[in-house]
Amino acid sequence: MRIGSEEHLTLLCREFIDSHLEFDPNGLPWPALGEDDVAKLRALPFWDEAVRTERRTGAKITAYAPEESPALLREAVALQGFEETRHAGLLDALISHYGIVVDPGPEQPLPTNLQAAFIRTGYGECIDSFFAFGLFAMAEDLEFLPRPLLALLEPIVHEEVRHILFLVNWVAYKRRQEPLPLRPLHVARCVGAFAGAAYDRARSAGNVAGGVSGTSKDGFTASGASAIAGDFSLTGFVGRCLAENERRFAAYDPRLLRPRLVPTAARSFLVLANLQAKARSALRPGAPSPPRSDHPTHDSSSNAA
Ligand SMILES: [Fe+2]
Ligand SMILES: [Fe+2]
Repeated sequence: MRIGSEEHLTLLCREFIDSHLEFDPNGLPWPALGEDDVAKLRALPFWDEAVRTERRTGAKITAYAPEESPALLREAVALQGFEETRHAGLLDALISHYGIVVDPGPEQPLPTNLQAAFIRTGYGECIDSFFAFGLFAMAEDLEFLPRPLLALLEPIVHEEVRHILFLVNWVAYKRRQEPLPLRPLHVARCVGAFAGAAYDRARSAGNVAGGVSGTSKDGFTASGASAIAGDFSLTGFVGRCLAENERRFAAYDPRLLRPRLVPTAARSFLVLANLQAKARSALRPGAPSPPRSDHPTHDSSSNAA
């Protein structure tokens, strides 16, 4: 299949639409939790940010959908807007059921360039979701919360995988629709959007870490991971994120492109961390040798995003 072809367009839309799950966030069987579990849930540092992000993402994508064509692409983008709005609804239901106090801040006006916002939001999800995959797996491993509750949250993670898969293929499809001389400009716009999304995450990380007493300024992911796992190994966590990333994307048609940038950065981080640990142990004879990464460091993603 040629990237940018009609076949690619149909596959990226059909894979997305056909894997949509039907459920109503207001009818979910929230399990009864003990006092300790409710306290752990309330103490998680990312509720404000999560609710704000899901609400805003749903509004932006829903507003952008009517600008898309052809109809199949419009249907897929509108469905993504629906799913994001439903994520906000699911979080609202959870928050009200367990009495979590959330302050997502005032509603922001929609951006004027909705397509640019769609790309920047999508790249933001590529960053957020990569780490969310690892956090969610860690929460399951450690039984941080009862499994019936984690099972009710799984659809959010499942849908974010599909959103990212859609985004990277949509970007590639749109780029091939541009005349050849204009494609570098498209690449530049995407690089700018990714940098903007990374900047947004860095700023949010400061807000999350700075707004939680007793939490070091490690950022959103680190504060979320340490809230779940206590003292945790950063390299172990990144390795888990990579493994989960591969596992979750393996479920989809191999002809579709996979996100590459964040996983590649994560593999590079693991290689550097391992080299640094080896250098340290070489300078201190008798010190224990560095732990082997629990994830292969080769780049197994076959395509660009
Ligand atoms: Fe979402
Ligand atoms: Fe999403």
